[in-house]
Amino acid sequence: MANVLFLTNVLVVSLAMNMGLIWKISYDDEQTLTSKWSIHQNLHFHGYKNNIIQVEEEEARVSKRAHILPTTSSGAATDGWESLVINLDHGDPTMYEDFWKQKGEETTVVTSSWQHISYFSDIKNVCWFLEPVLVSAITRLHKVVGNAVTEGRNIVVGTGSSQLYQAALYALSPPNGSDPMNVVSAAPFYSSYPLMTDYLKSGLHKWAGDAYEFNKEQPYIELVTSPNNPDGFTRQEVVKGDKGILIHDLAYYWPQYTPILSPADYDIMLFTVSKSTGHAGSRIGWAVVKDREIAKKMTTFIEINTIGVSKDSQIRAAKILQAVSENQKEAESFFDYSYKLMAERWRKIREAVNKTELFSLPSFPAETCSFSGRTFGQLPAFAWLKCEGEVDDCEGFLRRHKILTRGGKHFGASMKYVRISMLSRENEFKLLTDRLPAIIS
Ligand SMILES: Cc1ncc(COP(=O)(O)O)c(C=O)c1O
Repeated sequence: MANVLFLTNVLVVSLAMNMGLIWKISYDDEQTLTSKWSIHQNLHFHGYKNNIIQVEEEEARVSKRAHILPTTSSGAATDGWESLVINLDHGDPTMYEDFWKQKGEETTVVTSSWQHISYFSDIKNVCWFLEPVLVSAITRLHKVVGNAVTEGRNIVVGTGSSQLYQAALYALSPPNGSDPMNVVSAAPFYSSYPLMTDYLKSGLHKWAGDAYEFNKEQPYIELVTSPNNPDGFTRQEVVKGDKGILIHDLAYYWPQYTPILSPADYDIMLFTVSKSTGHAGSRIGWAVVKDREIAKKMTTFIEINTIGVSKDSQIRAAKILQAVSENQKEAESFFDYSYKLMAERWRKIREAVNKTELFSLPSFPAETCSFSGRTFGQLPAFAWLKCEGEVDDCEGFLRRHKILTRGGKHFGASMKYVRISMLSRENEFKLLTDRLPAIIS
């Protein structure tokens, strides 16, 4: 059996490699992720230091002439701060960088050139490219935190949970359906869902919008994101139809963002190191899947898509997740540190917003976290800020004040709202909380 599986895998791997040589994909579509995410992305992904940009133009737009201040992660950029553009459009989790700097050797991974050469990790596992050391680290951490049931479940690793989202859509959409499967999520929903669902114009599935508005007598997949991106609220399924399948995106179900109430036990749950430990650059996510056949199909998607997931990244992620579980006993554990930082940032942003009538923020009921024993309300990774009064385009309004955010329409909501990342480095966050109360009109 193992040999047959091995041979099948070798065949798929070689087929996919040849296809990779033949295919040349070229996109020139305004709807692609990169263009939708605006030209600011270019600055982000081409040798950036942080999200603060010095502009030479009066209007706070990112232009070719814009350049990035050479500030360090901890050093504050102070000179001429009024002219700096703060880019808080993305949820880039750089706020945890200082914690990991202190860890030094403990979480350093050294890899020799002869290591991790094979495509294969464990051919007996449903997910044959999943490193056993990562499985142990994931299951242990969920047990320590108490945020998800993993016993008797299948784990599938992905290049970020973004790839697992696509793998889950592939696995859950009937291959020979007369119509593409409807994919919905309650607005405001994570802005990447519509883009990721439709960018390949697949015949398998299509974005069907806000779950609150879905009333077709047709099969559907509902994304339940809890806590939610962008507004931070805890969520349940909305459609509650008998033809629905659920995917739970639990990227933020960690104790620095929300009180952990009980171990989540859903059919398909998505997690990621991007938001749990802040290692977005490693591109590691995992799915906890009840049904073995679904896990197999998700694995097939990743097999065809990228022939597995970087082992170097998996091993690095495993080391970091292990360290998080182990250092729970230390004076300042990762979740202690990150909780305190989030709580402090939320205190500061609420203080800043309360100084002006122009903005408001959502409030959250306090609950007791079974992991830390603390009682607190949500501390979301994003501030879902509302422009009060006359302002109808909050994104444009803040852009004029050199604060780049993502407007409500990207999340299926009103442009009176914007999403602001709370996960930036300290100097950017400080500029935000200094600038917000100083805005008059
Ligand atoms: C709700 C949610 N799911 C998934 C992702 C993507 O995570 P990853 O970096 O693992 O692809 C994000 C990132 O912002 C997110 O907010």
